[in-house]
Amino acid sequence: MNSKLVAVLLIISILSCESSKILFMNPTFSKSHTIPLQVLAKILANRGHEVTFVSPFKLNEKVENYRDIELKVSKESLKNFDEFSKAMSESNPIGVMTAATKTIFKLGNETLQSPMIRKLMETENFDLIVVGWFTNNFLVGLADHFKCPSVIFFSGSIFSLLHQMVGNPLAPEGAAHGMSGTKEVNTFKQRLGNFLGYAFDVLVIRTYFNYRSKTVYDYNFPPDRYRSYDEMIRNVSLVLVNTHFTSSGPRPLLPNLVEVGGLQVKPNPAPLPEDLKTFLDDAKDGAILFSFGSNAKSIYIPEDKQKIILKVFSKLKQRVIMKWESDVLPGKPKNVLISKWLPQDDILAHPNIKAFISHCGYGGVIEAKSNGVPIIGIPLGADQKGNADKIVEEGWAVRLDMTDITEESLTNALKEILSNPKYRDIVGKQAILAKDRPMNAQDTAVYWVEYVLRHNGAPHLHYPGADLNFFQANSIDVILFIFAVIYAAFKVIKLICGFIFCRSKKGSNEKLKRN
Ligand SMILES: *[C@@H]1O[C@H](CO)[C@@H](O)[C@H](O)[C@H]1NC(C)=O
Ligand SMILES: *[C@@H]1O[C@H](CO)[C@@H](O)[C@H](O)[C@H]1NC(C)=O
Repeated sequence: MNSKLVAVLLIISILSCESSKILFMNPTFSKSHTIPLQVLAKILANRGHEVTFVSPFKLNEKVENYRDIELKVSKESLKNFDEFSKAMSESNPIGVMTAATKTIFKLGNETLQSPMIRKLMETENFDLIVVGWFTNNFLVGLADHFKCPSVIFFSGSIFSLLHQMVGNPLAPEGAAHGMSGTKEVNTFKQRLGNFLGYAFDVLVIRTYFNYRSKTVYDYNFPPDRYRSYDEMIRNVSLVLVNTHFTSSGPRPLLPNLVEVGGLQVKPNPAPLPEDLKTFLDDAKDGAILFSFGSNAKSIYIPEDKQKIILKVFSKLKQRVIMKWESDVLPGKPKNVLISKWLPQDDILAHPNIKAFISHCGYGGVIEAKSNGVPIIGIPLGADQKGNADKIVEEGWAVRLDMTDITEESLTNALKEILSNPKYRDIVGKQAILAKDRPMNAQDTAVYWVEYVLRHNGAPHLHYPGADLNFFQANSIDVILFIFAVIYAAFKVIKLICGFIFCRSKKGSNEKLKRN
C-alpha cells in the first residue's frame, strides 16, 4: 500500500473513533437549567460527535450533528410546574418542595414511558449518556440499558446526592453547605450550622430522594433485566457541576467531580435582537435588567409589590428591561421594555447595563459576575437566599427580600447600587478572579466528557470510598477495632503483670519465711 493511502486511512480511523454518539437526557421544566447543558451539547456536536438532546426545549438554531427530541409534556406535569413557579415567586418553600418533587418524578417517569423514548431505547445505541440532573437519579438506568458510561450534569450548587454518587467527602468542618450564605466556615457557630445542614441532607434529603428515585427506577428498569439502582448510581463516571470555588468557596473535590461554573457564559457575547440593541444603545443614562429567571415568574409577583416596583421604575432616569411572561403589563412605564424571554448573558454584557435586579439563581449570579454587573438581590427560594448572602459578603450586591419591598426600600437600594462606585469596582475584580483558570469552563467540560469517552468510562477515577456504608466511610469500624485491640492488649498485660506480681510476691514471701 502506498504511504499516502495509509495516512488517509489512519486519519479516517482516528476521526471515526473520535466521534461518538451521545444522548443528553434532560426531562426538566427549567429552561435556565437546560441552557448550560445545551451549550455543552452544541460544542460536542461542533467537535464531530453525534448529539441527541431529549428535553422540552428545542434549540432555536440549526446545528450540525445535533438532533433535538422534543418532549411532549402532559397537562398534569405542566400544572405541577405552574404550581412550582407560583410557589417560587411567592417565596413559599414548602410549596416549592412539594411541587418540584411532583414535577420531577412525574415528568421523568412519563419521559421513560413515552413512545418516542421507548423507540429510541429499542432501536438505537449510544456511547455515552449525559443526564441533565434535577434530583432525577433514576435516569442512570439508561447507562445500563445502552451499556455505556454515564455523566451527570447539574446547573446549581452541589447537592448532597451528587456528593454521594462519587463518594465525595461532605467536609462539614470547613466546606460551606451549598445553601449557606457564606463561602467560608470559620467560627464554632458556623461549623454547627454547617454540620446540621449536612446532617439534614444525609438523614432526610438523601433518604427521601433515593427512595422516590428507586421506585421510578425499579418500574422502568426492572431487576430481572437490569442492574440495581444502587449499583448504577455507583457506576456514574463523572459529575459536572456549574459552580466554581470563586463563587461558592473552596472544598475538597474528587477528580471525577468537576466544577465548570459559568459554562453558559459566552467568551464573546452574541449580537442582541434589534429591539433590545436599540433600546440599550440609546439608554443615555444607563439601563437596568430585571429578571426572576425561568423557574419563578414575574407575573406571579404579588400584585401590591408589582405596583410598587413599576412606580419606582417610572421615576428612574435609567431604562429598564423586564422579563415578563405575558404580552401585557398594565401601567407599564415608558422607560420599561418587557419581554417573555431574554438573552440574559448577552444583555448583561452590554456596556450600558448598570445593575441587575435578580432572584439570585446561581446561573444569573455567575453571569452578572462574569460581566461585572452589580446585583440587587430579591431571593425567593431554593439556594437563592444563600447565593444572595454570599455576594453581599463579597461586596457587590444588596439584598432586599420580597416582603420588605416598599417604594422607599427599593428606591434606596437602587440609589446605592447605581451611585456608589464600590459595587462596580468589587465585581470587576471578582470577574477577573472568576475567569482566571487553566482552561475556561467550556473547554474543561468538553475535556472531561471526552476523557470519559476515551477511557471507556474511566473506572480508574472511581473512588473506593464511594462503595462504603456509613460506618465504613467514617472509619467507625476501624476505630472500634483499634479500641478493641487496645482493650485486649490492656487485658493481656494486666493478666501477665498480675501473674508476675503474684510470682514475685510468692517469691518474696518464701524468702521471708527462710530468713
Ligand atoms: C410510572 O408510570 C407508570 C405508567 O404510567 C405507572 O404505572 C407507575 O406507577 C409510575 N411509577 C412511579 C414511581 O411514578
Ligand atoms: C460501570 O460498570 C461497568 C460494567 O460492570 C464497568 O465495566 C465500568 O468500569 C463501571 N464504570 C465505573 C465508572 O465504575
